[in-house]
Amino acid sequence: MRAKARACANIALAKYWGKSDVALNLPAVPSISMTLDRMSSETTVEFVDGLASDEIAIGGEQASAGEARRAVELLDRVRAAAGIAARARVVSTNDFPTAAGLASSASGFAALAAAACAAAKLDWDDARLSALARRSSASAGRSIHGGFVELAAGAPGDDALAATLLAPAEHWDVRMVVAIVSTGRKDVGSTDGMELSRTTSPYYRAWVDAAPALCEEVRAAILARDLARLGPAMEQSTMAMHACAIAARPGILYWLPVTLEVLATVRRVREKQGLGVWATMDAGPHVKVVCLPDDVDAVRRALSRTEGVLRTVVCAPGPRVRIEPVP
Ligand code: DP6
Repeated sequence: MRAKARACANIALAKYWGKSDVALNLPAVPSISMTLDRMSSETTVEFVDGLASDEIAIGGEQASAGEARRAVELLDRVRAAAGIAARARVVSTNDFPTAAGLASSASGFAALAAAACAAAKLDWDDARLSALARRSSASAGRSIHGGFVELAAGAPGDDALAATLLAPAEHWDVRMVVAIVSTGRKDVGSTDGMELSRTTSPYYRAWVDAAPALCEEVRAAILARDLARLGPAMEQSTMAMHACAIAARPGILYWLPVTLEVLATVRRVREKQGLGVWATMDAGPHVKVVCLPDDVDAVRRALSRTEGVLRTVVCAPGPRVRIEPVP
């Protein structure tokens, strides 16, 4: 009863921020993401008879209490569905910084869902796998699929809500250049940040009202492979989400000074060099820059000249979650 899965991270082009049902972890707004080929989590799950409790290691260290609780809840759902009682040994590694606003929960829970189901011999389709991952972390529901992925807003109570494929990776050869600007963990995780936004930000309602139209524009731009249309809609979705979070009490500010430096670089490259480049940020200080493959070198050069950028990772649309052989 042992299986290994690999899932890629994803970055939202139209953001999810806020829940319509906290208990079932359903998003209040629709979102669309790109799965990233160069950032992934690999997770092995083994159900072991006689183990006293689930043992969870992330990146070679024992998981924190909060991380472990969320993983155990997912394992409990798998055990209930498969009718097994054995506790599990879970070993997960990321090939990028964990919990610094770099979508580690997305790839982590997608890989955990797929590996746990495979280890428990549950032959679930993508919709059930995605719903399982989504329940733990909504963005993880999107990492079941490769390419471009959408997750609708959830009606309260709809625990079957799953992400669906919008377009496969081959549909559009775009790049996301991830500018990593810190290695530390973030202060406020996305779950807490969006809940504080929902309950205290005067701009939360405005965000929820504005998000669907921005998501629709992102969707149309992806289907038309129109970067000049995608970029501004993606940036506005990002800024609207952060404006909502900044106005919470206390304000949630994920950006560092270097985040603004990178944003200025992106604008300069766009306005002065005339390149099609746009930026997005999530619940952390890093900046992800979307551009066409031909412009990657110029973008990387500009980013590496920006003080405070530690390194860049160039990602293309990546593959779906997959089960890998275990020895
Ligand atoms: C800013 O999926 O991490 O990255 O469902 O509470 O686990 P939970 O939140 P999570 O939130 C992601 C927020 C975001 C935008 C996005 O990925 O859509």
